[in-house]
Amino acid sequence: MPAPESASIAAAADPRGMDPKDRLIVALDVATLAEAEALVDRLQGLVGRVKIGSQLFTAAGPAAVEAVHKRGAEVFLDLKFHDIPNTVAGAAREATRAGVFMFNVHASGGRAMMRAAAEAARAAAGELRVRRPLLIAVTVLTSLDRATLHGELGVASSVEGHVLRLCDLARAAGLDGNVASPQEIASIRNALGRDWVIVTPGVRPAGAAADDQSRVATPGAAARAGAHYLVVGRPVTAAPEPARAAEAILAEMGG
Ligand code: C5P
Repeated sequence: MPAPESASIAAAADPRGMDPKDRLIVALDVATLAEAEALVDRLQGLVGRVKIGSQLFTAAGPAAVEAVHKRGAEVFLDLKFHDIPNTVAGAAREATRAGVFMFNVHASGGRAMMRAAAEAARAAAGELRVRRPLLIAVTVLTSLDRATLHGELGVASSVEGHVLRLCDLARAAGLDGNVASPQEIASIRNALGRDWVIVTPGVRPAGAAADDQSRVATPGAAARAGAHYLVVGRPVTAAPEPARAAEAILAEMGG
């Protein structure tokens, strides 16, 4: 029997119909397992999905994923794999075995690398009889602008053109969606269709500090623009009361 498809994928067809609680992903950008556990505890009942990125994973390893799962929440493993296909396939298998609901790879690793990741995740989910994680492409990092793309990396097209090209490649390789800045949501949704999963960071509640994010949108605007998942870090994690901050964001998303 085939492995059960991801519940997240089933829900993905109409992001605007999703419960805001299923769309909010809080980035656990902290240095220790203890801080991560404390945050997840404080957000119990409000936030069911968190992002573990390279800082926490480098510090605490798979124990961070296990600690989140033990608390009943789901993990987006944001390690942006980018290596030869065989190595990325191995990482995809381990992410699937760890039970994360979503992980990502760099689209600039190319079609063969992305396909190897997608096939490995599907095969591992089938063998282990676990849910297949959503596989998300990282296209052009938002820290790169046109001048860097052109002058340093030798990419002649515009940022938007390159993003769309990499999205097409990612879809052809069997990926489910991509990470997109708020400003990219509309053109990607338009070009890739409604089933393509869009994960959007750079979300800032009205009146909040932008921090180092240069292109931001409010939770309401990002949700209305059609992002499936909103990734929010400091507006929640650095708030004096993270649960109240999360509550306000959920209200903005639903409104
Ligand atoms: O604290 P803040 O809300 O800015 O956190 C956003 C999270 O999303 C961080 O973990 C950051 O690494 C991640 N991210 C981003 N921009 C991207 C891709 C990922 O801010 N283009």
